[in-house]
Amino acid sequence: MIIAPSLLAANPGRFAQEAQRAERAGGEWLHLDIMDGHFVPNISFGPALVQTLRPMLRVFFDVHLMCSRPEILLDPFAKAGANSITVHVELGDKVSSLLWKIKSLGKKVGLAINPPTAISTVQPYLTQIDLLLVMTVNPGFGGQSFIEETLPKIQQANAWRRQKKLPYRVEVDGGINFATAAECARAGADTFVSGTCLFGQRNMKAAVKKMKSIVTAQASSK
Ligand code: DX5
Ligand code: ZN
Repeated sequence: MIIAPSLLAANPGRFAQEAQRAERAGGEWLHLDIMDGHFVPNISFGPALVQTLRPMLRVFFDVHLMCSRPEILLDPFAKAGANSITVHVELGDKVSSLLWKIKSLGKKVGLAINPPTAISTVQPYLTQIDLLLVMTVNPGFGGQSFIEETLPKIQQANAWRRQKKLPYRVEVDGGINFATAAECARAGADTFVSGTCLFGQRNMKAAVKKMKSIVTAQASSK
């Protein structure tokens, strides 16, 4: 079970300190949301920030590209120090070549799916990926409410993984708090992105510990 604090929820004027706070709190991954103002109606940050943070931190950098043209960003984020790079299945025809390119750069390969998109669209790529990111809100903004209708997709992602004996992680992203993390863990998720809930805590270390123990308990009681 991995807890991945999402830097999008941090105060942008203090990104470096906030990223260090997330690491000290025990978040094993740092989730980095890249928004291009086209694939989603918002803009976040780019490779320069990732490159600046990299030498300050030891955590795994989980880069989530919510971008229409990720092909122009793979090299820059790989060089900046991403450990995994995730692209969206909604990009259609170019998904396969994007996944190959990420692998060829020596990075973990992620594929994300938005709430309205049918889970069957990811099926052709399951053998190519290290990470399946099931969006549990419509991407673009932090602080939204979890969409319950995404739970069956998490269950399906987990069922395929078991049936096909594949090693990909099932990551959830959007509206994840202690209660929704538990629901996702019961459905089969093992990697939990959480922005607002974790960064909003005065004691983030206790919050990461609590979320981790909740999801671990749910998974082992299945
Ligand atoms: C949504 C992003 C999320 C977001 C999650 O577009 O992909 O990673 O930061 O934030 P919270 O936990 O605030 O919903
Ligand atoms: Zn994200």
